[in-house]
Amino acid sequence: MSYSKGVAVVTGASSGIGVAYAERLAARGYDLVLVARREDRLREVADRIGKTADRKVEILIADLAQTSDLERVEARLSNDDIQILVNNAGLGALGPAAKVSADALDRLIKINVQSLTRLTRAVLPGFLARNSGIVVNIASMIAVMPTPSGAGYSGSKAYVLNFSRSLQMELAKTGVIVQAVLPGPVRTEFFEASGMTAAPFPDELFMSADQLADAALAALDQGELVCLPSLQDLSLWDTYEAARVALSRALMQSGQPARRYSAMVDAGGPR
Ligand SMILES: NC(=O)c1ccc[n+]([C@@H]2O[C@H](COP(=O)([O-])OP(=O)(O)OC[C@H]3O[C@@H](n4cnc5c(N)ncnc54)[C@H](OP(=O)(O)O)[C@@H]3O)[C@@H](O)[C@H]2O)c1
Repeated sequence: MSYSKGVAVVTGASSGIGVAYAERLAARGYDLVLVARREDRLREVADRIGKTADRKVEILIADLAQTSDLERVEARLSNDDIQILVNNAGLGALGPAAKVSADALDRLIKINVQSLTRLTRAVLPGFLARNSGIVVNIASMIAVMPTPSGAGYSGSKAYVLNFSRSLQMELAKTGVIVQAVLPGPVRTEFFEASGMTAAPFPDELFMSADQLADAALAALDQGELVCLPSLQDLSLWDTYEAARVALSRALMQSGQPARRYSAMVDAGGPR
């Protein structure tokens, strides 16, 4: 077995994008810790990668919605061999807000938001002590594209984007890197697992999980900390960012109610 670059932890590594990341990180020389619930699928992925990439691959069978399982993964992440965390596990709970079950929304928040937050928090003290480490947070293009029938999902991925961007600012002067990845549609088990019989996008909008992981890792290599893998014209993101910065500056100008409201209050309210 060749020299290891350290350990990469990939959550949701039993299918789809997580498998593609695991394969690529092993090929890049990382040993792996793969996390998911389906033991048979995870074991198959681990055995295959262990053989083809000649790397050490550990599996952690865990339901990240369960506190005791989450705590086991957090404990593993506090070990000082960890170099990369890919927070990839996620689900959609898609459908009209009044029809999606409360349980599905609860699970979505526990996986997409709570576990991603807690696993990042768990890995940071070690990364900061060593002044090195990478967190990749898988968001979605829906983070900047709120849609009907995806309210919980869109909200959760907007959280992932803002959480990651705030951390990027906080950690800017350290050797710790946080990347947010905003995939468009990817051919995986996602839509099926999210309760849809058909994907709400035309086929030509889909890329494969392999293409997605290759693009996002190329972005990471280039220092692109917010990666929109299918965005051809990057100047659109720059324009979006410039508008956000201008809005932030305007919001810092005054604490007084805007004139359009105070004029109405002065006039005695609605008639
Ligand atoms: N596919 C798309 O079009 C698309 C687009 C944008 C973003 N994304 C994001 O990409 C990420 C990966 O999704 P995917 O497309 O690869 O879908 P996928 O094939 O359904 O994979 C989801 C992974 O998450 C794991 N997972 C789900 N619930 C879990 C739980 N309670 N505990 C532990 N692991 C859990 C699943 O493993 P087990 O079932 O074995 O636990 C599976 O490995 C998600 O965050 C998703 O939001 C996907």
